[in-house]
Amino acid sequence: MIKVDISKTRDFVEWDEVKALEPEVKKALEMLEHGTGEGNDYIGWMDLASRTLETTLISDIRETAAVLRKECDVVVVAGIGGSYLGARAVIEAFGNSFVQLVNDGRNPQILFAGHNISEDYLFELTQYLKGRRFGVINISKSGTTTETALAFRLLKKQCEEERGKETARRVIVAITDARRGAARTCADKEGYRSFVIPDNVGGRYSVLTPVGLLPIAVAGYDIEQLVRGAAEMEKMTSGAVAFEDNLSAVYAAARNALYRKGKKIEILVNFQPKLHYFSEWWKQLYGESEGKDGKGIYPSSVDFSTDLHSMGQWIQQGERTIFETVISIDKVRHSVLVPQDDENLDGLNFLAGRHVDEVNKMAELGTQLAHVDGGVPNIRITVPELTEYWLGQLIYFFEKACGISGYLLGVNPFNQPGVEAYKKNMFALLDKPGYEEESKNIKARLNKQA
Ligand code: PA5
Repeated sequence: MIKVDISKTRDFVEWDEVKALEPEVKKALEMLEHGTGEGNDYIGWMDLASRTLETTLISDIRETAAVLRKECDVVVVAGIGGSYLGARAVIEAFGNSFVQLVNDGRNPQILFAGHNISEDYLFELTQYLKGRRFGVINISKSGTTTETALAFRLLKKQCEEERGKETARRVIVAITDARRGAARTCADKEGYRSFVIPDNVGGRYSVLTPVGLLPIAVAGYDIEQLVRGAAEMEKMTSGAVAFEDNLSAVYAAARNALYRKGKKIEILVNFQPKLHYFSEWWKQLYGESEGKDGKGIYPSSVDFSTDLHSMGQWIQQGERTIFETVISIDKVRHSVLVPQDDENLDGLNFLAGRHVDEVNKMAELGTQLAHVDGGVPNIRITVPELTEYWLGQLIYFFEKACGISGYLLGVNPFNQPGVEAYKKNMFALLDKPGYEEESKNIKARLNKQA
């Protein structure tokens, strides 16, 4: 099972200090379970997994995935933030590190777009898609996000031109609001297959809705096991479970106890590069949920041992405002033994015959000891294996902990008012109709500065 070990935070916060947060955690869990806290119109994710298992959603998604898998060699997922990070996190966690870059003949290649506004990125993407059998999953809850709409506009045109309107209708799928937004209007008008993002699930909590499940199913992974894992974690982290046994409660309490002692930055660490995008998903989840009202633990991430050769120095001896949360995968999928070498020029024969993962695990342990000695508290989350079931558990574990943690911090963990600021300025600078007043003001401000 998944384990959370906070024993290496003891030099910085006593267990009693973590345990002292139990009443606050209990209150937070009650707020989540009874929907009495701030942002309570966005807690549909709480029992989403178990509810999904009682519906036909998984088979409906599999049916649509089968069409895309049959008719496409490449599927482009257009979305940003919560509308792409979860799918990418899961697909990259399971994918082969190399053949995912090209179609391996069994599963369509999954590419991502609509998460930046880079002209070069879009040029190279559209070039790459030329002559390929591609489809598009257009994901936007609001249906109005500039990055996604812009990419989709290009992809729709290219798909229709190259594959014909009829085929385009079969290989473009929309995942959006049930009623509102341009993506819904377009899907209904064109007759695309579509799935609904529930009103009460925010973007960063939506990986177990069709937002994540459809791309993951198209990529060839078992979405039922993913959802089953999450449903199991729902039970394991409910308010009825004792504080000490509730993994999300203990993690949320430990990180808040550390925060209250000045540890303002949390670094999510992995020793498996496949988890790089899992960290990106986690950063959005915690960053958007907690960073507001002048508060919040700053979520950052590193891939070890790679980043030990770049960020290791800072972590070991920089400002002591950080703590680490390590995701440790017990069992790797493949076996590679260190070979014997007669010349032994690199001096590595002492490792001959041993698994590479043993070296990695000792790097992990050695790093933990060094960083704790250097003043960095360490939380360790152990996952038995990278499978759909365990990843489903891990996703829900972090979601639940995030809800609890946000309430412990005293913020609404389910809104993101701050993300509107750049959009307003961008639209004003681009003279978007309706932004005339803002355009005038921002231009006057820039002229004054010039
Ligand atoms: O978590 C969030 O709410 C955001 O990251 C959104 O998911 C992101 O901005 C994309 O929004 P939309 O799905 O409306 O295009």
